Formats: sequence, C-alpha cells, structure tokens
Amino acid sequence: MKKLSFAEMRAFRADQLAFMMQTALTMGGVAHLQMLGMNIFIISEPAVTRELLLHHGHQMHRDPFVSRVFRRFMGNGVFVAEGKSWQRQRKLMQPAFHALRIRNYADTMAAYTQEMVAGWQPGQTVAINNELTQLTLRIIAKTMFGVDLLTQTAALGALMQEILTIGEAQLKKTFLPPTWLPTSDNRRQQRALRQVKALLRQIIQERRLSAVDQGDLLSMLLAARDENDQPMSEQQLLDECVTLFVAGHETTAAALTWAWYLLAQHRDVLAQLCAEVQDVVGDTAVTFDHLPQMPLLEAVIKETLRLYPPAFAFGRSVLEPFSANGTHFPQGSVILFSVYATHHRPDLWPQPEAFQPARFLDKENGPDRYTYLPFGAGARICLGNMFAMMEAQVILATMVQHVTLALAATEAVVLDTVITLRPQDPLRLSVQPVAAFAELP
Ligand code: HEM
Repeated sequence: MKKLSFAEMRAFRADQLAFMMQTALTMGGVAHLQMLGMNIFIISEPAVTRELLLHHGHQMHRDPFVSRVFRRFMGNGVFVAEGKSWQRQRKLMQPAFHALRIRNYADTMAAYTQEMVAGWQPGQTVAINNELTQLTLRIIAKTMFGVDLLTQTAALGALMQEILTIGEAQLKKTFLPPTWLPTSDNRRQQRALRQVKALLRQIIQERRLSAVDQGDLLSMLLAARDENDQPMSEQQLLDECVTLFVAGHETTAAALTWAWYLLAQHRDVLAQLCAEVQDVVGDTAVTFDHLPQMPLLEAVIKETLRLYPPAFAFGRSVLEPFSANGTHFPQGSVILFSVYATHHRPDLWPQPEAFQPARFLDKENGPDRYTYLPFGAGARICLGNMFAMMEAQVILATMVQHVTLALAATEAVVLDTVITLRPQDPLRLSVQPVAAFAELP
C-alpha cells in the first residue's frame, strides 16, 4: 500500500489517465493507494478484473464520484440504479438492444451519416468531434424514441449538451454543492433538465396516444410490465430516456473521432479500408448485412477502442469487505478498473502504442474479455455495446464511401479525461473527395 503525498494527489486529479498508467507500470496490476484515509485500488490485471466483476459484483456499487453527479440528471436510471431496481430495469431494457432489433437501426445510421457528409465541401475544415456528437445524438433520438432532432426537436439536443457540460464541471469538483443550493450551475442544470423532461413527456404522450409499437426502445418501455402487471412509472421512464441520451452518444462520437485521428495518420490502413468498403458495399447504402463481410472495418474500430478507450476507466465502491486473488478489499474502498492501462500494458500487447488493426483480424486468437474491455465486463457490461459497435461500423463505412479526411493541424492532440477520453480541443480535419485519396501521400 502506498500513501499518496499531496503532490501525488494533485497529479491524480490533474491527469487520471497518466497517473493510472504510471501506477500500473510501477506498482503492477493491483495497485493499492491511500488518499486522505481512503483506500483506492487501481486494477489492470485481467485475472483480478475477472474475479472481481464475475464473483464480487454483488459486493460493490457503482463508483460514488460518478454516481453522485450522474444521479442529478439520470435519477434512478439503469446506469446509476443499484440492487433490485437495477436488475429490473436492465431486464426490461435488454431486449431493445437485441441483435435482431438493432439491425433495423442500421439504415437510420447510414442515412443520417450520408446527410452529414453531404453538407461538407471539399477543402472545408470540420471539427470532427462536434460533427460526430451531433450525428450520434440524432441517431440515438431517432432509434430510441422515434424523433428527429434536426427537424422536430433541435432544442432537446442543445439542452442535453448543456446538462452534460455542467455535469463535466461537477465531476471535477471535490466539493459538490447540493442540488438545493441555488448556485448558477445548479440552476442552469435543473432548468435544462426540466425542459428536457417536458419535451420527453410530450414525446411519450404522443406515443401513448398513437398506441403503435414502433419497435424502438420507447415502445418497449411503454409496453413493459413488472411482476404485478404494473407499467413503469413516468418518473422511471423519463430517467431511462435521459440515461440513454447521455450514455448513448458521446462515447461513440469519441471512438469515431479517434478512429479518424488514427486513420488520418495511417493512410495505408485508410486505403485498405476504402478498398474493402468499395468491394463490399460499392455505392449503395451500408446495411447491417454488409458488416460481417468487412473484417478490417471491425478491426479498425476495435483497435481504436484499445488505444483510445472512450470509457478509459470505470469504478466501484466496496459495500462489504472481501478478499480476492490474495488482496483484501476493505469496506468503503474504491476500485478503479483501468481500461486504458490494461489496453496499454506491454506484457499483454506487443508494441502497445502502435496502431495495428491486424491484432483483431484473427478471431480465434483474440484477447479475452478481461484483457480487452472497452465496454466493461460482467453483469454491468455496457447495455449498448452491440449498438455502439454496429453504429461505429456503419458510420465509418458510410463516411469513407463519400469523403476522406486529413489532419488540418500538426500540433499534438491533448487528451481530455473528464467523462470520456477525447481530444481536449476540437479535432480539425480537412475534407477531401474520395477521388483525391489516391493522390495523397
Ligand atoms: C463506443 C461506445 C461506448 C463505450 C466505449 C461504452 C462503454 C461503457 C462502459 C465501460 C460501461 C460500464 C462500465 C461499468 O461501470 O461496468 C457502460 C455502461 C453503459 N452503457 Fe455504454 N458505451 C458505449 C456506448 C453506449 C451506447 C450507444 C449506449 C446506449 C444506446 C450505452 C448505454 C450504456 C448503459 C445504459 C450503461 C449502464 C449499464 C449498467 O449499469 O447496467 N453505451 N458503457
């Protein structure tokens, strides 16, 4: 166990990612730290991750630092719920993410991506993370709730962004003012949340009146009944809607931003990817059925998620003490599963810093699910993991059909690690027609 000095605590707060990586390299896969009397474990050892998430999940709750902020807008949605209410909500929502259901969403994903790139002109510079955040937000709204943010409810997107931006600032705070304190952030966040919920109520009301099962999540949540044949309360319904908006767009946008950042620097891989998409899809729209025929596309996304996992760490607090793999985890400890450190350990990944999608082409000998865990693992594994993988593939394939992108600036990208791992400043890329690709270096 190592007690952190004030300087080390500052370093931890300033750059969690670098701190966790450094700790994993110097203290190993189970690093025990103490910060102001609190036990913190940083885990990057797959066997221990497996043991904790598979066999001790019931003795842990979600990380208190993230929960206290997310609860403010997600209420008791599935992301922050615990125990029986988590179990019930997860079971109710799971079918909406079944492979057979999500395949229907691919057409919306491809169509909206085409619209995005159609609005770009060759030579133009785009802030790719902003563009992709708008796109993934629009996709989640349409596929989950059947509304088009562009034409129907643009306000919803802007309000969600405001709630999240304030949430990010709240995550950085050691002392978080209680919600009843009328600070400027609290007031702005609550006002935006009230407006979001009013819009969502309207959407729900219209759907109830139409009584048509549109095959989306909202229809499923409205039809869901518990063991006493009771529908989900309106409050719970709203909490789940907000949860999916928040959990379901920024992470995928970050993943795709990094994919383009890497592809722009590895033109050989980009050329192979363009050829693969051209061979399989040609000039038609990308569909769900095309995806299994494009192994490089999937490998590029997976390698991106290894190098730059948007959820670079996830945490738990220990409810009751237990021991696992020779380590004792006292009650109240915080366990941080460092996805980033696990994905960058040189003993697990040869040349860990190199972008090598080929690592994921050999499916027989791929990494196990605790060595490669961009979506977490165990019972609380990302509810939207298949949705996100499909979305990333459909968007990237559709983009490379129509445009190619190159870095517009040469400065190194600074990493932002508040909620998701993403570039601190907008990543600027210049748009080039696909035909120009062959002439590029
Ligand atoms: C590349 C994109 C994404 C990444 C990297 C990602 C990653 C993660 C991770 C690491 C966790 C949970 C970890 C834990 O604490 O155990 C998680 C949870 C969750 N994710 Fe995702 N996610 C992505 C996209 C999505 C999408 C598109 C949706 C919904 C449409 C979604 C919905 C959720 C929900 C609801 C949970 C909470 C699950 C629970 O606690 O039972 N995610 N995600």
